[in-house]
Amino acid sequence: MKSNTGLVLTSPDAAQSVPVGPLCLLAGLAAQPPVRPAERERNTVSLRAKPSRTTRSTPPRMIPWIPHLRASGLGISSGVEDTIFVLARPFGVPTYDLDFERFFACTHPVYLPEDVEVTARVGAIADYKAFFTMLGTIGLRLVNDPAASYRANDLRGWYPRITHVTARSLWFEGEPDLDRVAREMGFPVFVKTVQQTLRHRRDVCIAPDRDALERAVATYRGDPVLGAQPLVFREYLELAPLPSAPRHADRIPGGREIRSFWWKGRLVGDGAYWSRDGGWTPSPVDRARALSLGEEAARCLDVPFLVVDTAQRVDGSWVIIEANDAQESGYAGISPVALWRAVIEAER
Ligand SMILES: Nc1ncnc2c1ncn2[C@@H]1O[C@H](COP(=O)(O)OP(=O)(O)O)[C@@H](O)[C@H]1O
Ligand SMILES: [Mg+2]
Repeated sequence: MKSNTGLVLTSPDAAQSVPVGPLCLLAGLAAQPPVRPAERERNTVSLRAKPSRTTRSTPPRMIPWIPHLRASGLGISSGVEDTIFVLARPFGVPTYDLDFERFFACTHPVYLPEDVEVTARVGAIADYKAFFTMLGTIGLRLVNDPAASYRANDLRGWYPRITHVTARSLWFEGEPDLDRVAREMGFPVFVKTVQQTLRHRRDVCIAPDRDALERAVATYRGDPVLGAQPLVFREYLELAPLPSAPRHADRIPGGREIRSFWWKGRLVGDGAYWSRDGGWTPSPVDRARALSLGEEAARCLDVPFLVVDTAQRVDGSWVIIEANDAQESGYAGISPVALWRAVIEAER
């Protein structure tokens, strides 16, 4: 799903996921004693909370939550000018992590109005629905609801909406029918799960023949994390190569690919996907083509905070590789500070 140069070093998704269990501490907030009004006023900063989508007749209840987030290892920051709320935790992946405190004026209110929109930057989230629900119990509403996150992260969610601009794909909920794969996709065929590849390993992602396909399926099935996810077989695309030789012979070689971040339909950042592999810079024309495709995908997918990966084919045309929930995506060759400034600008 979201790696940019290989799972271990650069992909938040490939490493551990956010365990929902320990965070259940947060749910304990519901049992907190009521806060005295004077104390509440002292501790509340004037942050511009996003209004709830539901119409309220009574003022929102203020709830204390910071100590519980801290106890769970999560910090929450409001970005510059009290505009956005980010729930962040270092994930240990350089192209994913950003220390918001270093680059933005952050505040740490003790109380917030209920139903505040937050963006999570906590790495890969194993059970998004549970995470969303848990945060909801303390009045925090993730920017992507579970349905939107599914449309972004799972091929079964995004593929039907952008079939016309991405590689033809076939997936199976149970045992894959490899005869059908061979018949309908031919060889080579690209193999991944509905969410991601196995650490961008070339031998399991690109199957040149039937034997290799069977080995790839067995390898995915034996993986402790990806083994349970349905497999997807995709038309193999001849992608325009990067100018430099691939760094790792055993990984997918990578190509001229652009990752773009979309905040509520607006472009907030774009850059080379394989940013650690030779520093390729697209021409203005190529960049414009890739982004116009990205914009179309963003429109079709309708996900508030979305990442779209596009690639150039050897014939020069552009195609969508995949979509992702931007909360769980690495920045690739995009400046995270510029990206968050653009998000803040969009929210002003
Ligand atoms: N259908 C395909 N044909 C050829 N190469 C592909 C295809 N799909 C993906 N790739 C290559 O494999 C890389 C990883 O695939 P991707 O679907 O993004 O998996 P992940 O979610 O693990 O990053 C892409 O960046 C691209 O270089
Ligand atoms: Mg990818």
